[in-house]
Amino acid sequence: MAQQEDVFKKIVSHCKEYGFVFPSSDIYDGLAAVYDYGQNGVELKNNIKQYWWQSMVLLHENIVGIDAAIFMHPTTWKASGHVDAFNDPLIDNRDSKKRYRADVLIEEQMAKYEDKIQKEIEKAQKRFGDSFDEAKFRATNERVLENQKKYDDLHHRFQEVMNAPGGIDLDGMKQIILDEGIVCPISGTRNWTDVRQFNLMFKTEMGSTADGASTIYLRPETAQGIFVNYLNVQKTGRMKIPFGIAQIGKAFRNEIVARQFIFRMREFEQMEMQFFIQPGTELDWFAKWKETRMKWHQNLGFGAENYRFHDHDKLAHYANAATDIEFRMPFGFKEVEGIHSRTNFDLSQHAKYSGKKIEYFDPETNESYTPYVIETSIGVDRMFLSIMCHSYEEQVLPDGQTRTVLHLPAALAPVKLAVFPLTKKDGMPEKAQEIINDLRFHFNCKYEEKDQIGKRYRRMDAIGCPYCVTVDQQTLQDNTVTLRDRDTMEQHRVAISDLRSIIEDKVSITSLLKKLL
Ligand code: GAP
Repeated sequence: MAQQEDVFKKIVSHCKEYGFVFPSSDIYDGLAAVYDYGQNGVELKNNIKQYWWQSMVLLHENIVGIDAAIFMHPTTWKASGHVDAFNDPLIDNRDSKKRYRADVLIEEQMAKYEDKIQKEIEKAQKRFGDSFDEAKFRATNERVLENQKKYDDLHHRFQEVMNAPGGIDLDGMKQIILDEGIVCPISGTRNWTDVRQFNLMFKTEMGSTADGASTIYLRPETAQGIFVNYLNVQKTGRMKIPFGIAQIGKAFRNEIVARQFIFRMREFEQMEMQFFIQPGTELDWFAKWKETRMKWHQNLGFGAENYRFHDHDKLAHYANAATDIEFRMPFGFKEVEGIHSRTNFDLSQHAKYSGKKIEYFDPETNESYTPYVIETSIGVDRMFLSIMCHSYEEQVLPDGQTRTVLHLPAALAPVKLAVFPLTKKDGMPEKAQEIINDLRFHFNCKYEEKDQIGKRYRRMDAIGCPYCVTVDQQTLQDNTVTLRDRDTMEQHRVAISDLRSIIEDKVSITSLLKKLL
């Protein structure tokens, strides 16, 4: 685990050193849980967004996109339930003055029991080798049984307080923290305050006070921009159910515990799609979208074993089924995407609060109804983080040297081709520029002439550039170059005139999209 934490720290520094992610307002020492994307980060991020957008809007005839404003009428958030229910239970430690999410403290305690069980299993596995029977060991080993019981009891109590009839039982939550002897990681004490609810929405004011300013919120999810435009899009696009509306945009949450780099930010970006369907068909569509979205993730080639579904026990106020797609990060399996069956909650609420009829008239049955919704909601930044974590490798080469390489999927890499003149003379730089001038219309190219070729390769490996081309003496005679592959580091000679056809297909988003069909 400690080793994995080290790897994660290295990934965070790599992101800064190579222009992927910087702390926001870095010269003022940053702003907590807010980050800026640098010259390479923005390209990777744009490619992720393009992969998502095109998989939704290009590959589905019945999905269209919108781009709604961040500011929305304040009643939107009353109707959606966010003003009253978008809360996290927080607790303070009086000695360290640190604030925590009470539910996270309890979840971490459950994870400790799971870790203890896992360690016993790993130890026994080593001891018994091939003859190890995990199921039998789990059913008989005393220490495993003891920790499993502690886990099950805690899980049961946690479910009870989270699903208490009048909303989360805050006193019950504090009692669990006390009973479990959970201490503050900073002060090491159990001197806790009561648990309180804390609304996560950022507030600001629109208009001057003299005019009668109104309180507005920075949207905590992009989904509501889709719901309030349901009628506009359905009517103007003459959309027939089932159909979807997709959107990419910023969302803001005043997260209490903001840690793990860009995993939990206060300003982040979401890619959300609301799929409008006939009531009663939601569980079928929920299953279909689970499958479609998992395929989209696994299509990147990171290995099916690194993903899993986590079905929710506790459902959000709007959902009747929900699951997360989790990815194996260096700090464990973590949510990257949520898929929710949101019933007709949002559209009905907006109908109620706006006084507008928000329905769908089905020409086949001559009936009107309020559509149900399946939502797929993925964080761009978490997707970015999962890609960086999986791609990062410190490789020891056969000659004993090391290199840091990002094995980014070529279609997502910020730079697709780097072109180097072997030396700065004999017309090699001009030839290299000629190649770039020809190829830059088709994909992102970079020219590099500083330092020895070996160093230039390393710099390109570190930003995940899949191909490097070197212009040398022979190029000037026969118009061929060496083409180097980032992952295998193999080089072979190819004609300049073939470069585009060799590279373009491999680095295009289209190549990824084709594999989805
Ligand atoms: N409209 C539904 C919704 O917003 P969510 O599970 O709260 O659901 C969806 O968020 C996704 O947005 C998450 O799976 C995650 O990828 C991303 N996300 C949520 N909060 C985030 C945060 N504070 N920082 C970064 N990404 C976040």
